[in-house]
Amino acid sequence: MLVNATNMLLKARDGHYAVGQFNINNLEWTKSILLTAQEMNSPVILGVSEGAGKYMTGFKTVAAMVKAMDESLGITVPVALHLDHGTYEGAKACVAAGFTSIMFDGSHYSIDENVAKTTELVALAHDHGLSIEAEVGSIGGEEDGVIGMGEVADPAECAKIAALGIDFLAAGIGNIHGKYPANWKGLDFVALDKIHNATDNIPLVLHGGTGIPDEMIKKAISLGVSKINVNTECQLSFADATRKYIEAGKDLEGKGFDPRKLLAPGAEAIKATVREKIELFGSANKA
Ligand code: G3H
Ligand code: ZN
Repeated sequence: MLVNATNMLLKARDGHYAVGQFNINNLEWTKSILLTAQEMNSPVILGVSEGAGKYMTGFKTVAAMVKAMDESLGITVPVALHLDHGTYEGAKACVAAGFTSIMFDGSHYSIDENVAKTTELVALAHDHGLSIEAEVGSIGGEEDGVIGMGEVADPAECAKIAALGIDFLAAGIGNIHGKYPANWKGLDFVALDKIHNATDNIPLVLHGGTGIPDEMIKKAISLGVSKINVNTECQLSFADATRKYIEAGKDLEGKGFDPRKLLAPGAEAIKATVREKIELFGSANKA
């Protein structure tokens, strides 16, 4: 059932669990995530980056595929179709394409420009019934082989953005996209606590969910995190299962080269990863 993400995240905040956002790249990803959420009776958020949107030939294609699949699989748990790290233009395009939720990532703008653009997009999103996430403090990650450690968000800036009427807030607390380097210092819980206290109990979002130790995930949830984004981990499990299938020569046996067979182990691996995260985040049976 396609819905925006507002109520599922308010429920998660009040129930002290988090809803997983799992990024999609194609039909297999979407199907695996929807089926697992349904099987576990969990709400779920399908994240679409602008790059993945382009790969799937545009946001309209993505929205049409997700809507049709949600119906044809008979999905009854709440599902939000969410733009991940959207630009100003991308956010507008997703509203027009029929997404149910958007993220505007204005973290690289000055705080004043972030406020101005977020304000405009809050009105647009809410006029169309969508939920909206904004970001303060950049999330680290790999760029051209260099891993940036990310920037811890300023609680006062978080308060400014949270007060604009957004539905949930992503704040950098030392989290990083992709694999965490060996010298990573961990999440900054002092900053998270300050941000939580400064933002009027707005549901908080933790990006870079791949590879964060379980105890840190649980502590983050206890400090107001209600949405956790996972992308790389599904990609790694898909790649690993596909490699094993090919290295075992299964594609050379019978009709093992048929894409429906070749992609099946990867699709099963995504399901296992999503299942594990739903358990850890505590959203099973919360649909
Ligand atoms: O916005 C997407 C996420 O923050 C995913 O991060 O690839 O490190 O799991 P990840
Ligand atoms: Zn992210």
